[in-house]
Amino acid sequence: MADIKFFTGMDIPLELHKVRMVQKLNLQPVERRVEAAAEAGNNTFLLKNKDIFLDMLTDSGVNAMSDRQTAAMLICDDSYAGSATFTRLEDKVHEIFGTKFFLPAHQGRACENILAQAFVKPGDVVPMNFHFTTTKAHITRLGGTVAELVIDEGLATTSDNPFKGNFDLDKLRALIDEVGTEHIPFLRVEAGTNLIGGQPLSLENMKAVCSICREHGILTVLDASLLQDNLYFIKKREAACKNMSIREITRAIADEFDIIYFSARKLGFARGGGIAMRDKALCEKMKELVPMFEGFLTYGGMSVREMEAITVGLEETMDEDVISQGPIFIEFMCNELIKRGVPVVTPPGGLGCHLNAREFLPHIDDHEYPAGALAIAVYIAGGVRGMERGTLSEQREPDGTEPIADVELLRLAMPRRVFTMSQVLYAVDRITWLHENRDLVGGLRWVEEPSSLRFFFGRLEPTSDWQQKLAKKFREDFGESL
Ligand code: F0G
Repeated sequence: MADIKFFTGMDIPLELHKVRMVQKLNLQPVERRVEAAAEAGNNTFLLKNKDIFLDMLTDSGVNAMSDRQTAAMLICDDSYAGSATFTRLEDKVHEIFGTKFFLPAHQGRACENILAQAFVKPGDVVPMNFHFTTTKAHITRLGGTVAELVIDEGLATTSDNPFKGNFDLDKLRALIDEVGTEHIPFLRVEAGTNLIGGQPLSLENMKAVCSICREHGILTVLDASLLQDNLYFIKKREAACKNMSIREITRAIADEFDIIYFSARKLGFARGGGIAMRDKALCEKMKELVPMFEGFLTYGGMSVREMEAITVGLEETMDEDVISQGPIFIEFMCNELIKRGVPVVTPPGGLGCHLNAREFLPHIDDHEYPAGALAIAVYIAGGVRGMERGTLSEQREPDGTEPIADVELLRLAMPRRVFTMSQVLYAVDRITWLHENRDLVGGLRWVEEPSSLRFFFGRLEPTSDWQQKLAKKFREDFGESL
């Protein structure tokens, strides 16, 4: 991105787009927010939009689309089989990744389902830098396990390592020796890592990982759902890539992997997904699962409108001015919070600003879910909805024990091009207030705990009347203000 300096020396991100369609928001009074939290079982996934002011739950499927994407949606070719819309998407995927075969799927986890069903057997181990919730659920459902091989620093909430999502190559070699290649159906690289703060990997690290896998004949899979931010970080943070274009970096990454899959709810600014590869035999192994679970091979559960939007969105992803917007706003939000003493994950990554709940709420025991408590407290403080990324997002072991997450984070996602500077500053203001009043926040306990992916629809309750006390303090401090 061109470096744009302000005469007054202000160090703020600048939007490189203008707003041409808007949606009205509601900001409910704090008392209603306490009620809404209870109605939602203190789970931000269960809140209703009418009660939410800034929806920072996720960037998934809610990034602002461009005028070109919206226009493309009108010229789609609607047919069950052989639509020109699909051909356009397929061609764009092959153009940017250099692949030859493309299997469409309705979203990222559908790709994971297909990959797991095609390759994972009971007893298998799938190495990855870090798991994602749905990825792990598909692998464990089929009797496999996940080995997390991220560098130790990846789990340090504060650091200045620019590539905290990197693999530890020694851990990878040791795992291969320990379990043997016959029990490793594939290795998965998540670029960048969702659950540990949207932290990227370097191109150098991806090359080293893939080279070890080639040496041992292990299939390599890239989860490119969060690739957009990772591309930007490689360009900005990896000296060797400074003079490469985003398109060249994309291609250099893609050339390393056997299979690339993505959620187009993230990559491509629309809603959908797919799996791309160069090898026909690999495609044949997965192909039959697409019509079985997704839809015919030329739509895979996606609407033609969305496919047109993804095609344009993928092309726009090759533009540094477009993909810089997420990371620069996230960095701004993190830095504003740091200035006010709020603990956040550093360096700022992609996807969103991540609050370190263990440090924010040190008085809350891990079994009373600091990140879950913080999520609902931030909602009560400002109508801002984030997502718990901690112990609640883990699944219990088969014997019922509850693994405590390595990191307890509250993710405040930054859907791309959706929020303005003053909205980000509003969120910072309310979080700062909450931090000053953090002693008032208490823990949560289960009321209804689902057996898998429990964070999606589980219901919890506060361990005391802390939410009423928090709302009372809000009134004292803010008077009549919403
Ligand atoms: N892989 C990564 C790295 C993801 O972040 C996600 C989704 C998926 C796969 C699954 O894709 O949602 O299209 O089925 N992450 C969303 C999030 C849900 O909010 O972080 P999906």
